[in-house]
Amino acid sequence: MATNRIGVLTSGGDCAGLNAVIRAVTKRAITEYGWEVYGINDGSHGLLDRPPRYQQLSLSDFSGTVLRLGGTILGSVNSGDPFDFLMPDGSHQDRSEEIIEGYNQLGLDALIAIGGDGSLAILRKLAQQGGWNLIGIPKTIDNDVDLTENAVGYLTAVDVATEALDRLQPTAASHNRVMILEVMGRDHGHIAINAGIAGGADAILIPEIPYDLDRLSTKLEDIRKQEGRTFALIVVAEGVKPVSDSAEAGIGQYLCDRLTDMAGAECRVTVLGHTQRGGIPTPRDRLFGSAFGVHAVDLIAAEKFDRMVAWSSRDCVDVPLADVVGHSHPVDPKSAVVRTARGLGICLGD
Ligand code: F6P
Repeated sequence: MATNRIGVLTSGGDCAGLNAVIRAVTKRAITEYGWEVYGINDGSHGLLDRPPRYQQLSLSDFSGTVLRLGGTILGSVNSGDPFDFLMPDGSHQDRSEEIIEGYNQLGLDALIAIGGDGSLAILRKLAQQGGWNLIGIPKTIDNDVDLTENAVGYLTAVDVATEALDRLQPTAASHNRVMILEVMGRDHGHIAINAGIAGGADAILIPEIPYDLDRLSTKLEDIRKQEGRTFALIVVAEGVKPVSDSAEAGIGQYLCDRLTDMAGAECRVTVLGHTQRGGIPTPRDRLFGSAFGVHAVDLIAAEKFDRMVAWSSRDCVDVPLADVVGHSHPVDPKSAVVRTARGLGICLGD
C-alpha cells in the first residue's frame, strides 16, 4: 500500500499534551516519509460536515509555540456518538455512513485517532465499517485506558491536583480547617491517589476502595489526639458515591456536610474541575505525546494497523486495539501506590 496522506484527530475530553502528539505526528510523517497530514477538526464531527472540516498541517505550524500549549489546536468533541447521534429534533440517527463518506472525500490512506477508551471504541467501529487503516493513541486525564502505563494528559492533571493541595495546606493550617479536594477521574481514582500521596493528604477516597464514614471521622480525631493537629487534607475522586442516596451536588460537598456533623470539623470543599484538563503540559506529557506520535506514524509505514501505541516498562510499544476497547484500567488495591498510601498511614476509608 502506498501511503500519501494521513489524517489525525483528537476525540473526547481535551487534556494537556495533545498538541505535542499532533506536532510529533506531523514532523515524523513529513520529514521521514514525505506524506501529507490532514488535521481533522472537532474529532469525527469534522467528517460529518460538507465539505469536511480539516486543516493541512505543515512543519511551519509547529515553530515552537504549540508544543507548550494545553488543549488541542484541532478541537475535540466528547458527545455525539455517530452510531446514535442526537439530532436537533430530539431523534437519534446512525450517521456513521456520513462520516465514512467524509473520510473518503479527504482521500486518506490512514488515520491516527488520539482518544480515550470510549472514543477509540467508536473510531474502531467506524474503521471496521469503512475499511480505514486506524492507529490509536491513548489520552485522558483519568489514565484508565488499558494496556498502557500512561495516557497523555494524566500527569499534568496529577500536577494540577498536587499544586492545589500545596495551596490548600497553608490555609487549612492557618484556619484549623479540614480541606476537602474533589478531583476528576470519572469512574477511577488514579488522579486522587497519586496527587493525594504527593500532596500530603491525610485521607484519600477512590471508587475502587469502599469507604466507611466512621473511619474518616476517626482519622480526623486521631490526628487531633495523636498529633495535636487541628487541620487536615482529604482528597476524594469524583466517582466516589455518597454512602446513602443524597440530593447533594457532589461527593466533596457530601463529605463536607457529613464530617461537619460527625467530627465537628470546620470543613471547606474545593472542586478542581476542568483546571485539571487545561494548562501547560508537564515535560512527561510532552515526552509521552511525542513518543506516541512518532511511533504511530512508524506503525502506518510498517502497515501495522488496528493497534494502539502504549507505554510499558520504560518503552513505547503497540498493542491490538481489540484488546483495549471495552476494558478499563482501575486502580489496583494491591498496587504500589495503594501500599504506599497505607504505609504512610493515609486513611483510605476502609
Ligand atoms: O474523561 C475526562 C473527564 O475530564 C473526566 O475526568 C470527567 O468526569 C469528564 O471528563 C468531564 O466531562 P465534561 O468535560 O463533559 O464535563
